[in-house]
Amino acid sequence: MNKLWAGRASGKVDEIAEDFNSSINIDKRMYREDIKGSIAHAEMLARQKIISRESADNIISGLKSILQDIDSGTLEINSSSEDIHTFVEQILTERIGEDGKKLHTARSRNDQVALDLRMYLREQIICIDSSLKHLINCLNDCSRNTIDDIMPGYTHLQRAQPVTLGHHLAAYSMMFLRDRERLKHVYNTTNISPIGCCALAGTTYTIDRDFESSILGFYDISRNSMDGVSDRDFCIEYLSSLSIIMMHLSRICEELILWSSWEFGYIEFSNSYTTGSSIMPQKKNPDIAELIRGKTGRVYGALIAMLTIQKSLPLTYNKDMQEDKACIFDATDTVINSLRVIAPMISTMTVKKERMLLAAKEGFINATDLADYLVKKGVPFRNAYKISGEIVSECIEKHLTLEEFSLSSYKKHSELFDSDLYDAIDLKNCVNRRNSVGGTSHQAIVDELKYIEKINKEEMGCCDD
Ligand code: ARG
Repeated sequence: MNKLWAGRASGKVDEIAEDFNSSINIDKRMYREDIKGSIAHAEMLARQKIISRESADNIISGLKSILQDIDSGTLEINSSSEDIHTFVEQILTERIGEDGKKLHTARSRNDQVALDLRMYLREQIICIDSSLKHLINCLNDCSRNTIDDIMPGYTHLQRAQPVTLGHHLAAYSMMFLRDRERLKHVYNTTNISPIGCCALAGTTYTIDRDFESSILGFYDISRNSMDGVSDRDFCIEYLSSLSIIMMHLSRICEELILWSSWEFGYIEFSNSYTTGSSIMPQKKNPDIAELIRGKTGRVYGALIAMLTIQKSLPLTYNKDMQEDKACIFDATDTVINSLRVIAPMISTMTVKKERMLLAAKEGFINATDLADYLVKKGVPFRNAYKISGEIVSECIEKHLTLEEFSLSSYKKHSELFDSDLYDAIDLKNCVNRRNSVGGTSHQAIVDELKYIEKINKEEMGCCDD
């Protein structure tokens, strides 16, 4: 195809170089944004009398027909064009003739590509946000169903204090709520229009940037033309937010993988989210959770790639920036697909309450409560801690849990022990006594889940397609 920039340059670009230079196979997914942006541009040009109303109408109906034809599959995006902007303009001119050549007045592909990318990301942010919202709702349902299911809480992956699965899962809801909050901020940074910055220095035409940006739904316009065409901070913020989402997903997946093992046995995934082994008949592999954990690396990679693309770039547009889209699109797909698969995987898993309770009982995780019992009877905490530690040692030696250790044996360690100590170390009581805000008691979790539900109700918008 003819080059948009034919004129100055003569001679043919090397075929391999041309292929290398082309981005259409990546940026074709922004065709809707590109066409909608061009329609707004034609409207503005006509309103400002830079082109005639007739030309604008001609351009707009041409653009609408292109959009319709790509949507319906009658027009295939041809990879012989350099990029999506070139493709749309070339087809437009083929369809409507000379008026098509007027569209690119007071515009450059530099502000056009930045505009398209911002429009595209606005939609993706809304999409990711609504997937996060759905995941939080699923987690909240699971939390409600497991609000009293006791399990060991861990520090250093060592059994530490009793918690409930409901409480544990709600911790993840909190993380995903923060992710939603971060996306709101990224949406605002993204929602600034660069169109009208042109190649880098603005334009001599009497354009109306505010009008054009407002019909495209932007909140504001960029205020420096050089910054406008070369700013990719919004991409970096977007990928940072996506990386944090994946980091959270990888943490919950790691826990679910551990919990689904024979060693833990706290949960079992539905067969729809596991695979078997080709040679070991007993295996049920948590592939989906592992893949989400693994795909986290790709999204981190995209963030590092984007940061590195922008590093040391002189103002303003440089072709390096064309590399932004490949990593952004890949990260977007990865996050959306991960969120899409994890929600039903969690909703359909089976919780093995008895195994969790057994692990809690065998873990001496009520040793802190045993020490607290003595403190309440007037023993200084350090001494109570030492006595409890000695009792734990003896229990380990004798293969007993604290609940199985007899009162007379307790009394050998301290005369202050009485039969009410068994109430004090009862796991249910241990959990329910931690009634501080954000604690493990039934009531504290009910309040926590209500809070999550309330914040999670907020809507950013809904997906286009
Ligand atoms: N395909 C290019 C990109 O994605 C569009 C902008 C090209 N501008 C230019 N002056 N070569 O960045």
